[in-house]
Amino acid sequence: MAIDGPAGAGKSTIARRLAERLGFTYIDTGAMYRAVALWGLERQVDFGDMHRMEQLAAAAEIELAPGRILLNGTDVTDAIRRPEVSSGASKVAVIPGVRRAMVAKQRALGERTSVVMEGRDIGTVVFPKADVKIYLDAAPEERVRRRALEMRGKGQEVAESALAAEMGERDRRDSTRPDAPLSQALDAIYLDSTGLAIEDVEEAVLKLVRSRITNGRDFS
Ligand code: DC
Repeated sequence: MAIDGPAGAGKSTIARRLAERLGFTYIDTGAMYRAVALWGLERQVDFGDMHRMEQLAAAAEIELAPGRILLNGTDVTDAIRRPEVSSGASKVAVIPGVRRAMVAKQRALGERTSVVMEGRDIGTVVFPKADVKIYLDAAPEERVRRRALEMRGKGQEVAESALAAEMGERDRRDSTRPDAPLSQALDAIYLDSTGLAIEDVEEAVLKLVRSRITNGRDFS
């Protein structure tokens, strides 16, 4: 099952809850791009150095444990949420070689077990034959508000105008890059979560899942 959409649309929350309800594995592909960006920052690699970034992406050992992410054996769960890593992830995600390495890892994960995978290109590129595809959206102001709430909840200080600018720039870059830009797959269901409670979005998606999958077989 694939969930794509812009930053702050609620993908992670919904994907995590659905995976729990369905007994599937939740996979946050954004965390993988973030891990590569973090490694690049630590090694002081210029994100414009496509060849070096591609090497790092191919060599990165990324493990997704429930609620945690490990990069080369080190827990980077909190480190990858820093603002410079957010924009760095969007920058390294432009590099075709980095995407190739990430897509290969994602396909390997998805072939092993049933997954709810969220990102930008899951329904279009990673698993174009996913049983259920959702494109989750929300109004920009609401997406900024949600992300600010989430960050404040973690004790981080947030200037909403700076956050809005950062998210706007990231969405622009993610949806205009030539390789696998953020876009709605033709057969994805568009869901606008603006003004909806998490529970309502979850129920709406569950209804879709139930109508499409019966006993693991696809009847769509
Ligand atoms: O989902 P996120 O905000 O944690 O993702 C961070 C960045 O990673 C995002 O700005 C673009 C990139 N990304 C991507 O290009 N493709 C994906 N499938 C997931 C994330």
